[in-house]
This record gives sequence, C-alpha cells and structure tokens, in this order.
Amino acid sequence: MIRPIFTLLFLLTGFSLAQAQTDAIAQRRAIMKGVGQANADVGKIAKGEAPFDLAKVKALLSASQEASAKMPGLFPDNSKTGDTAALPKVWQTKADFDARWKKLGEDAAALQIAITDQASFKAKMSDFGKNCGGCHEGYRQKN
Ligand code: HEC
Repeated sequence: MIRPIFTLLFLLTGFSLAQAQTDAIAQRRAIMKGVGQANADVGKIAKGEAPFDLAKVKALLSASQEASAKMPGLFPDNSKTGDTAALPKVWQTKADFDARWKKLGEDAAALQIAITDQASFKAKMSDFGKNCGGCHEGYRQKN
C-alpha cells in the first residue's frame, strides 16, 4: 500500500515542478508582451504617428510598475531553458537584473506624477525606454 502512495506523491510533485517552470516562463513573457504593446502605442505618439493620449502613456507606466513588482520573482532556477529568450546572465548577475526592474518601477512611478500633458510627455519621457533596451542588451536573446 505504501509504495504506490509514494509513487503517486513523487509523480504529483514532479508534475507541479514542471508546471511551475512553464508557468513562470509563460507569465513573464505575457507580462513583457503587455508592456511591449503599451510601449508600441506610446512609441507611435512619440513619433507623431498617433495623437497624444495621456491614458496610453499612463497604461505603459502602470504596466511597467506591475512588471517591476512581478518580474524578479518569475525567474526560478528551473526556468533557464525552454520557450524563453532569457539569457544565462539573468541567473549569473541576478542582483543587477533585479536592480534594473526596481529602477524601471521607480522611473515609471516618477513619470506617473511628472507627466500630465503633451508638453511634460515630450520633456520627460525620452529616457524611459533606455530601461528596456539597457536590460534587453545583456539579458535577452536577440531574435
Ligand atoms: C530588467 C530587465 C528588463 C527590462 C527593464 C525590460 N525587459 Fe523586456 N524582457 C526581458 C527579458 C529577460 C525578456 C525575455 C523573457 C523570456 O523570454 O523569458 C524580455 C522580453 C520582452 C519582450 C518579448 C516578450 C515575448 O516573449 O513575446 C518584449 C516585447 C519586451 N521584453 C518589452 C519590454 C519593454 C517595452 C520594456 C520597457 C518598458 C522592457 N521590456 C523592459 C528583460 C527586461
């Protein structure tokens, strides 16, 4: 009687670990995708391809704040491989990686207050994107 129960427990635990890994990759990619979409909307505004829309700017900042809070916890050791573009450096210099998320959130929080109209958007938004490119440069596989 005991052996089948252990086997069952083993299978269940193994399954939930595999599940956790896939979930973390799927979750972090979904969060980044949302930020990417919001960023594309704001990019059009910045280039003058779309009219200024404060709600879209705020949506990007909010999505970035959410990413800042959630992303550091979505890179468990068992999520290094699989359907992911994250580079090994994420786990090698995790403190720097996490500090970059923190900065993204802090910059977004500051801009939530600083940006109130088109003029303040033009004056203050331009450096924000360096957070994205600066991190992708070393931590994300180029496609
Ligand atoms: C601290 C690091 C970091 C910051 C800051 C960051 N990213 Fe990412 N981003 C990543 C990593 C790592 C991946 C790869 C995730 C994976 O595949 O597991 C990624 C993936 C992405 C993807 C691809 C998502 C997919 O799989 O379809 C987009 C789009 C994206 N980021 C946009 C942005 C934008 C826009 C910003 C800035 C507002 C940003 N990122 C800020 C690290 C970062």
